[in-house]
Amino acid sequence: MTSPSHQSLGLGPVAILCVLQDLQLLTALLLPPPSRPNFLIIMADDLGFGDLGCYGNTTLRTPNIDRLAEDGVRLTQHLAAASMCTPSRAAFLTGRYPVRSGMASTWGPRVLQWAAGAAGLPPEEVTFARVLQERGYTTGLVGKWHLGLSCSSRSDLCHHPLRHGFAHFLGLPLGMMGDCARAEPSEKRTRLEQGLRWVGRGLAAMAAIMASITLAGRSWALWAVLALGATSATLEVGSRVVGGAVARLDCFLMRGANVTQQPLSLSRLTPLLLREAEDFLQRHAHAPFLLFVSLPHVHTPLVTSPAFQGRSAHRRYGDNVEEMDWVVGRLLSALDRGGVADRTLVYFTSDNGGWLEARAGGEQLGGWNGGFRGGKGAGGWEGGVRVPGIFRFPGILPRGRVLAEPTSLMDIFPTVVRLGGGALPEDRVIDGRDLLPLLRGETPRSAHNFLFHYCGDVLHAARWAHRERGKLWKVHFVTPVEDPPGSGSCAGSPESQDAMVCACAGGGVTAHDPPLLFELTSDPGEARPLTLHKEPAFNTILQALRQGIARHLETLGPRPREVGGALDLWRPWLQPCCGNACACDLEGGAREGRNDGDEDLEPWGRGFL
Ligand SMILES: *[C@@H]1O[C@H](CO)[C@@H](O)[C@H](O)[C@H]1NC(C)=O
Repeated sequence: MTSPSHQSLGLGPVAILCVLQDLQLLTALLLPPPSRPNFLIIMADDLGFGDLGCYGNTTLRTPNIDRLAEDGVRLTQHLAAASMCTPSRAAFLTGRYPVRSGMASTWGPRVLQWAAGAAGLPPEEVTFARVLQERGYTTGLVGKWHLGLSCSSRSDLCHHPLRHGFAHFLGLPLGMMGDCARAEPSEKRTRLEQGLRWVGRGLAAMAAIMASITLAGRSWALWAVLALGATSATLEVGSRVVGGAVARLDCFLMRGANVTQQPLSLSRLTPLLLREAEDFLQRHAHAPFLLFVSLPHVHTPLVTSPAFQGRSAHRRYGDNVEEMDWVVGRLLSALDRGGVADRTLVYFTSDNGGWLEARAGGEQLGGWNGGFRGGKGAGGWEGGVRVPGIFRFPGILPRGRVLAEPTSLMDIFPTVVRLGGGALPEDRVIDGRDLLPLLRGETPRSAHNFLFHYCGDVLHAARWAHRERGKLWKVHFVTPVEDPPGSGSCAGSPESQDAMVCACAGGGVTAHDPPLLFELTSDPGEARPLTLHKEPAFNTILQALRQGIARHLETLGPRPREVGGALDLWRPWLQPCCGNACACDLEGGAREGRNDGDEDLEPWGRGFL
């Protein structure tokens, strides 16, 4: 709420405006939320905090998202529960820190690697979609999932969106898009290729040794030479075809339980997803619905339709952001056309911060985190977890409000569940808190005293919003080794082709004792660690943080392991396939670039460009 400065009698024009604004707020607050409203939830992939006009970007054009923020509430301290996709999304859908569901791992990859792995969001986890589906909502997911498919047989689909409360699904089960396009930076292809090549070379060297033994007259060694040579040659060939294989095995579309396009046609993806979302909104306008649009934007390889190519001031990344904004505009128009905008809560966010290490040929392919240190994957640094968060609900939420209180993406779970008339599960810890009272101005404070910042399943940092003094303390026990130092990124070589992110443990991190303490309100860039000398209350603050952490750790039960372990290895018997050779296209036309999907490309951006 605005300050009560208009109590003076000599009301100037500004004061009158303030009164009017307050009245507007008050009338807005008088309306109770309707029962069973609709939900349109839009999540971008790897979008940086500083990439949107309404978050201070002056060179990227995002008019639709900016308008959404003007018409609703914009959060400036909105935090993902993890700085990478799989754990952040698991936490988002369940309202729980990803360590609780096994979706956070420290060793090995921190996101699911294979569509045909056995790891994924455990079937016992409850998503907000499932609660609402049980309450009679029509639920849909359009876009990226990346939370697993099957457990032990190809058809059990135990981790599939259908099993997690989404009655409709069209999208990408995995979503390691760089490898789908065989483009740089690669998510796992480069690593696989190198691995196969090194093993192959090792075997070739052994074959050479065996060959010399053969020459020395031992006949059994001849067989070893042949076996080693053949395996080594196979691996060498394998390392060359692995890219194509990965693009086919991991990059496909599913509609419901069926594979309908394999391999994925990247150029047709956005029009297809958009049309699906618009159809959903049109078909279900009469019913209470929940639609989760999980965009492929703005993850590499930044596939952008021709209408938006070369239009922005920030090369391929900027073009992709501007296209994303246009997609959001189309979704909002669909709500207007269906006459349901007033009954629909719209939420926009990103799963984690921009990817600083994503560069190719000197071009920055990742987002801008608005001056916060670090980015996607970078420990507990702010840039990886602080993301845009916008809510719009006409008449129910105030317009044009900006909130700086700490909030979490995990808060969406209780907020959506309560508004949709569901009950929170009582048999487990829910870390999210209902946001509605804060968004409506019924309470000035976030319900979170502490928030915890994990890197994989290691607690790197924690924050404490100190009520009395309006200070925001953040402590780091462990930070990634930055390269160059202080950059917040772990780039290694700038031309590194692997999908590089910072490490969570081992040699790639520094442990701090005493820990690094920052006051974020005065030092948002986490550049000036405090000491006992500079902050006399240093020890008291640290003690409060440690107590908050101890209470949190007590609530953690046994930690299951889904991501980053043996469950997440490729299992041929779990490989989803369509057609005879894992090849089909049932999504409207088989030929690339000549299908009805492309009709949508023409009018794109008219009136905007
Ligand atoms: C806007 O976003 C681009 C692309 O991420 C970034 O390079 C630029 O620094 C941002 N500008 C501002 C003013 O934040």
